[in-house]
Amino acid sequence: MKVSVTTIPLNELDIDLLLIPVAENVVAESLNALAEQFGEIVQRAGTDFSGAFEETLWLYPEAGRARRLALLGIGAPDRIDLERLRRVAARGAELARERKVVTVAIVRPVVPLDVEATSQALVEGFMLAAYRFTRYKTETELRDIERLVLHETPDDEKASRRGAERGRIIAECVMTARDLVNLSPDEKTPTKLARLMEQSAKKYGYEADVWDKALIEEEGMGGLLAVNRGSTEPPTFTILTWRPENALNERPVILVGKGVVFDTGGLSLKPTKDSMDYMKSDMAGAAAVVGTMEALARLKLPLYVIGLIPATDNRPGENAYVPGEVIRMHSGKTVEVLNTDAEGRLILADALSYARTYRPELVIDLATLTGAQIIALGTEAAAVMTNSIGDPQARLEAIVAAGERSGDRVHPLPMYEEYAKLLESDVADLKNIGGREAGSITAAKFLEHFVDYPWIHVDMAGPAFLKEPKPYRPKGGTGFGVRLLVEFLRDYASPHRRAF
Ligand code: BES
Ligand code: MN
Ligand code: ZN
Repeated sequence: MKVSVTTIPLNELDIDLLLIPVAENVVAESLNALAEQFGEIVQRAGTDFSGAFEETLWLYPEAGRARRLALLGIGAPDRIDLERLRRVAARGAELARERKVVTVAIVRPVVPLDVEATSQALVEGFMLAAYRFTRYKTETELRDIERLVLHETPDDEKASRRGAERGRIIAECVMTARDLVNLSPDEKTPTKLARLMEQSAKKYGYEADVWDKALIEEEGMGGLLAVNRGSTEPPTFTILTWRPENALNERPVILVGKGVVFDTGGLSLKPTKDSMDYMKSDMAGAAAVVGTMEALARLKLPLYVIGLIPATDNRPGENAYVPGEVIRMHSGKTVEVLNTDAEGRLILADALSYARTYRPELVIDLATLTGAQIIALGTEAAAVMTNSIGDPQARLEAIVAAGERSGDRVHPLPMYEEYAKLLESDVADLKNIGGREAGSITAAKFLEHFVDYPWIHVDMAGPAFLKEPKPYRPKGGTGFGVRLLVEFLRDYASPHRRAF
């Protein structure tokens, strides 16, 4: 989709559909102004429009060059925030699709929010709502929206352009992540996923270094190798690097993404219905890291950032690892595997352990790690946890705030010492499951054994993948994490950045 900004008079816009967001308190004056440009009909039909959030009204103008108008309610002015604007724009995209229009314009409403952020939110909401995954449809009656024009006042044109451009780039990177999650598992074996990452790196100007099984063995990644043993496909470990010359940090920020390309549960096999049938999404953490690396490179963020992607599937093959087996991890620690379905923490632990070699400033991992996260928070937010090194409070505040601003929300869970007890093993240094209680926290406590730096863990099992559509998030992969990380890292790179 092409995105542009214009300041020409509204009635000169030659467009299939003009979207006009209107807040409750300014309905009368907005309709008056519109009537001057599009004819009296606007005012008359407008008696049926109150401006309530999510209300819409179609109008067919008598004057001007726009073929259709649609009023979009934004609701009460004191409740307007960026998320609401994304949803307003998303409604607009739905209307556009209903009528199969090709060109759409949206008026940036005058609201008490930063112009740049407002434009970014409108473009993100619109583009993400217009997304459809059609790769496997031999025929589709859907017509893609080709152009979005943001209507702006001359005074705010520059800021609006910056916001719209950023919104477009970020939305496209979210779509990269969605596409990867929605891809059929046979098209994203560890090797194929690594190829896709190499292609992304090449296209957008960052580095990708792919380790094969021999290198993974040499490095001693016992967790990744154990999970992979039941598979006929070898694992990969991919290192993505964005290091611009003007990077503000010497030591990197590292992003780790769980890349279980399909999780059958292994010998601790999952049931099919409502469980294994969604497990192509178990690499959503990896997808979020790839989308984020693309965004960093495209936005030229002045930060040195590394992405680490351990990738394998988890299957009950003849040689598969078994419950009761003790494995030696990359860090040297031993783990008693009591459930082969708790595989994510094993491959993440090796990546987190390897991350120590960079002496990172901060490490953030993203993973569809536990069903317990979905029980706790559903699909509305991911769970976020952190260790006690450095300034955990500042880290949590920053990531929660980035979640609120970006719409990829995260909510904290505690990391009390007591939870670590649940992972004590009779035979090894620790076991890979903690029991039914506090499943997301014990998973994080497991990972904590493998880090010695400031660390944030995001368990996104719920929000990564939807069975029912939500505003601007269709069924399937949501691309969760890209907007969260980009917002967090943009803030991290800003002059007022704090040490974490
Ligand atoms: N990939 C799953 C977690 C998951 C479940 C993600 C549902 C998305 C939707 C993970 O590997 C897993 O199987 N976790 C187990 C851990 C348990 C065996 C300790 C779980 O949560 O049931
Ligand atoms: Mn599993
Ligand atoms: Zn898994």
